[in-house]
Amino acid sequence: MLDVAWPLARAVLFSMDAERAHELTLSWLERSGGLLGATARTTLGTPDPSLAREAFGVKLAGPIGLAAGLDKDGRAIPFWPSVGFGFVEVGTVTAHPQPGNDKPRLFRLVQDKALINRMGFNNHGSEALAQRLRGLHESGRWPSIPVGANIGKSKVTPLDEAPADYALSAERLAGLVDWFTINVSSPNTPGLRSLQGPDALGGIIDAVLDEVGETPVLLKLAPDLEPEALAEAVDLAISRGISGIVATNTTISRPQSLQADPNETGGLSGAPLWPLAKDRIGVALQAASGRVPVIGAGGVHSVAQAQELLDMGCVAVQLYTGFIFEGPGLPARLNRGLARQEHAREGLTRGAQA
Ligand SMILES: Cc1cc2nc3c(=O)[nH]c(=O)nc-3n(C[C@H](O)[C@H](O)[C@H](O)COP(=O)(O)O)c2cc1C
Repeated sequence: MLDVAWPLARAVLFSMDAERAHELTLSWLERSGGLLGATARTTLGTPDPSLAREAFGVKLAGPIGLAAGLDKDGRAIPFWPSVGFGFVEVGTVTAHPQPGNDKPRLFRLVQDKALINRMGFNNHGSEALAQRLRGLHESGRWPSIPVGANIGKSKVTPLDEAPADYALSAERLAGLVDWFTINVSSPNTPGLRSLQGPDALGGIIDAVLDEVGETPVLLKLAPDLEPEALAEAVDLAISRGISGIVATNTTISRPQSLQADPNETGGLSGAPLWPLAKDRIGVALQAASGRVPVIGAGGVHSVAQAQELLDMGCVAVQLYTGFIFEGPGLPARLNRGLARQEHAREGLTRGAQA
């Protein structure tokens, strides 16, 4: 039903300012997620069990996950499994609650199936997220899929004090989430991406690892890193004990292919990001060379793209902008397409062996 109602819902939502539409949808899911979730689950279904997989020691219910930034404060966590997500990353949260950049700061490029955002980590802070997660655990509303927390640096914290800022969020959330993702790759916090460099990165990873015990920690990287720098960051992260890589975040570049006037500053996501993201995901996979898994993100809107990333070697795929443009039916459509491919390949293998 959600899928059928999507064209109308999209028309209404897309007639509004993008951030207002986002806020309205999230508060609706926060308040009525149980009922909506039950409806979605019956019409969209959960991922085929053959798609479940283990990655960085966590059992993902399926290969399609919700990317960070869409549910920064974890307001709709119980809802996400019902549209077919196999894992969900909340955040980015920061040690200090912060309002983010001035509005407007989120823009739809409708023809391009893209977004530009300069949100600037607007969030209620890692302490508020910890309380919310504790409430879900205690009330038995923790979802059936793993939940990770993406952590970033507070704007007020100087860059050289970043390790302690990340560590404070990790300490507050330790024991409440299935994994952490260190975000040093958003383009909207001044200087943040410089933390991807070798001098700063090691200190941040060490500080977070010190707080989280056995919980796996991933690192999310930007597509704007040159391939050598990206490979270096992956290598350093692995040598410091990171359990996986998320590639990629949004780009500050503006591909020639854009039809809309790309005047707004901020990170570009969605369809035009795909070629660059795919290239950098390839670099990350090669640098990781099987030592840790890579989650691919950036411009995925179709089964063919999700399949391509999995065939390249990604353990899973995350969606943000595709979900906004294609609607709540997208994860389930991707799951169905991927399961069909998997069954067809199994059939071929069995046929060849017979
Ligand atoms: C409005 C918006 C906000 C985002 N906020 C975050 C964030 O807080 N933390 C983060 O790691 N990534 C954030 N992202 C990046 C996404 O998680 C994802 O890496 C990126 O958008 C590429 O995937 P996509 O093309 O499917 O959107 C944000 C993306 C958008 C569009």
